[in-house]
Amino acid sequence: MTRIVVVGSINMDLVTLAPRFAGPGETITGDRFLTIPGGKGANQAVAAARLGAQVAMVGNIGDDAFGQSLYDGLKAEGIDVSHVTKVDGIGSGTASITVAGGENAIVVIPAANGRVTPAQVDAAREVIRGADALLVQLEIPLDAVDATLRIAQEEGVPVILNPAPAQKLPREWLQRVRFITPNQHELAMVLGAPADTDFRELMRQAPCPVVLTRGEDGAWFRDMDDEPRHQPGFKVDAVDSTGAGDTFNAALAVYLGEGLEVAVRKACATAAIAVSRLGAQGGMPRADEVAAFLGSHA
Ligand code: RIB
Repeated sequence: MTRIVVVGSINMDLVTLAPRFAGPGETITGDRFLTIPGGKGANQAVAAARLGAQVAMVGNIGDDAFGQSLYDGLKAEGIDVSHVTKVDGIGSGTASITVAGGENAIVVIPAANGRVTPAQVDAAREVIRGADALLVQLEIPLDAVDATLRIAQEEGVPVILNPAPAQKLPREWLQRVRFITPNQHELAMVLGAPADTDFRELMRQAPCPVVLTRGEDGAWFRDMDDEPRHQPGFKVDAVDSTGAGDTFNAALAVYLGEGLEVAVRKACATAAIAVSRLGAQGGMPRADEVAAFLGSHA
């Protein structure tokens, strides 16, 4: 069984479904309100577990009711939560999300996620050792991300770095990963390049392999010295794109052993299914659903 470790954020998503986005200073009436477990780290952990991987999560919850429910939710998915720490005196991370017309707008409050430390990641070294892949994002402090890259490298574990929310990153960080998985805007920010640079040129400039997500257009990928290659997206009726990128990253990690091209194709299919359903973790498919979807979209 594929073994995946995820180091990252755990949020409660406070989701408002609305007919459209409210403008500054405007009040509108929405359709529905839901609380759905989220956070880029937890989403990637849950998506990988649903695809059949053995998953361990490293991260923090707060000492509030959300924290207990998020912890129980991860456990119920069969995820190893022995390195999920409850931090006293602070709440759990939250994301206020408005969903309208298949698009979303998100405001994240890191709270306990902002207290993930390098020492905490080091304490999970035994779990990281021997993993087939490690997934990490940028919703936890950068010193913890740095420690994660270093420890994974020391243990010989390939890292998929999902640079979201995006910021400029040191080049030596990028040289320590197996892949980065940005969208075009994120890749420009990571490299400190002008936002209007052609995405294929950005991919060539990156000092590491890149799997670049392009929404409905699917993904482009470039392994070391290759030219960027395209995997077209799968057409579905979009309901909610929240967590689609996280689902994509998890699938990439789970299927990487089958080769990059296959992994990218399966990741596009897995993300397309997620987009056709409501909620980040609400929409993540199981491996048999992905197989059936690919069978009917040959
Ligand atoms: O990637 C989607 C996630 O981003 C949401 O679940 C939300 O919690 C934010 O972290």
